[in-house]
Parts: sequence; C-alpha cells; structure tokens
Amino acid sequence: MKVVLITGASSGIGHATALRLAREGHHVVAGARREDRLAELAGEIRADGGSVETRRLDVTDREDVAEFVDGAVERHGRVDVFVGNAGVMPLSRMDSLLVDEWDRMIDVNVRGLLHGIAAALPHFQRAGSGHFVTVASIAAHAVSPTAAVYAATKHAAWAITEGLRQELEPSIRVTTVSPGVVESELAGTITEAGARERMRTYRANAIPSDAIAEAISYAVGQPSDVDVNELVIRPVRQR
Ligand SMILES: NC(=O)c1ccc[n+]([C@@H]2O[C@H](COP(=O)([O-])OP(=O)(O)OC[C@H]3O[C@@H](n4cnc5c(N)ncnc54)[C@H](OP(=O)(O)O)[C@@H]3O)[C@@H](O)[C@H]2O)c1
Repeated sequence: MKVVLITGASSGIGHATALRLAREGHHVVAGARREDRLAELAGEIRADGGSVETRRLDVTDREDVAEFVDGAVERHGRVDVFVGNAGVMPLSRMDSLLVDEWDRMIDVNVRGLLHGIAAALPHFQRAGSGHFVTVASIAAHAVSPTAAVYAATKHAAWAITEGLRQELEPSIRVTTVSPGVVESELAGTITEAGARERMRTYRANAIPSDAIAEAISYAVGQPSDVDVNELVIRPVRQR
C-alpha cells in the first residue's frame, strides 16, 4: 500500500487515477478546489472498499500545497507518490490577447507543478524513496494554433520533470505521462468561441480518462528499481 497524493482529483484524469489507485489498495489523498466533487469521489471510493481522504487545494498557493503534503506526512508518516495533475487549458489565438488566461495557465500548469515538487521533494529525500508523476500532454511535444501558451506550459512541465529525473538520487522515481485527447472537463476552460469550436471536432475521438489512470498505475506498480520515465498515450485516431 502506497500513500498517493493527487492534485486535480475532482474530475477527469485525476479523478480516474484516484479511483483506480484506491481500487488497487493504495491510500489516496485527493486535492482540488471543488470540495463537493471531492466528496463524491470519496463516497465512490469508500463504497468500493477503498481508502481515501480529500482536501480543498489550490495549487497556485504555495503554502496550501505545502500543507497538503506536510499534513499527509504527519498523518501517515510518509508520502510515496505525488501525482502533479492539476491543469487548465483555456486555448485562444495569441492575438486575442487573453493575458489573464495566459497567466492562469502559467500559474496552475507550471507554478502549481513546481509547488508540488518543492513540497514533496524534501520528504522523498529524507525517506530515500518516492515517486513524482507529472501529467504533461502531447502539447509538451508539439504546438498547434490556439495552443501556444498551453503548449509552452506543458513543454515546461516536461522539462522540469526531466531535469528533476536527471538530478535526483536513483531511489526517487520520476515519470512524465503525456496524454492525447482524453474525455474530461478540460475544454470547459476555453472561453474563446473559435478555439472552443475547433476543440469540438478535435476532441471527438477522445479516449476515457481511465486509459491514463491505467498508465499511471503501471508506472507506480513497477518494482523499485524500475523507473518508467515517459509514457505518451493517444487515441488510435489521433495522429
Ligand atoms: N483531457 C485531455 O485531453 C488532456 C490531454 C493532455 C493533458 N491533459 C492534462 O491532464 C491534466 C488533468 O486534466 P483533465 O483532462 O483531467 O481535465 P479536468 O477534468 O478539467 O481536470 C482538471 C483538474 O485540475 C484541477 N484544477 C484546476 N485548477 C486547479 C487549481 N488552481 N488548484 C487545484 N486543482 C486545480 C481541477 O479541479 P478544481 O477545478 O476542482 O480545482 C480538476 O480536478 C491537466 O494537467 C491537463 O493539462 C489532459
């Protein structure tokens, strides 16, 4: 049984990962801002015989993330896996100048990820073990119109996680998971009409969030001397 922290567990990939890892016998600590959705998740996990706790969490708040991690360590004596999954994707053309939305993506997708690493790393180093799982995106490897800033944040998430992997002691594992189009609420953050319309077609072939949860489960479940560094998972129809 591992103590697994997941950010952005109130919907989509984080939610599916919490369900799957709890079903596999791990204790899940689930964080996000929507507490009602976290309560539903907890009910579902407990009804299934799983072990979970939830906490309101805003990853843009460094102190809040530190308390999320430190609290789990106090209660359980350790944290084994930190899944940095929280993200937003308000796509738009650059010339729409939706600067607040650019800032939001940087704050959640980059700063939020860094806050998690800063909070969990000292515990992992003290324990001499741990596992960072970052949910990046195929946008960590490619750019497309309306996705310039989102892709920049995901390239950053990839670079940060890869740099972390290179620097850390071998006892701490590091995995980047890069999904293609997956069913979730992510496109709900798009406010620009053109980008929203484009996404409707683009997202038609989405695969279930559990496909990504299964990939995370695979990485987490490997023996301690096996480090699954990177997984890219697309729907077959997405080329
Ligand atoms: N779906 C896809 O096609 C796809 C493809 C590639 C990569 N991804 C990545 O997968 C990750 C999960 O997204 P998803 O597709 O599952 O979308 P989603 O259903 O919209 O889930 C996003 C999660 O992030 C949380 N979140 C957003 N802002 C937050 C904040 N400030 N603090 C804490 N939590 C926050 C949301 O919870 P609250 O709103 O309750 O805080 C929600 O639980 C993201 O990093 C996304 O970029 C998704």
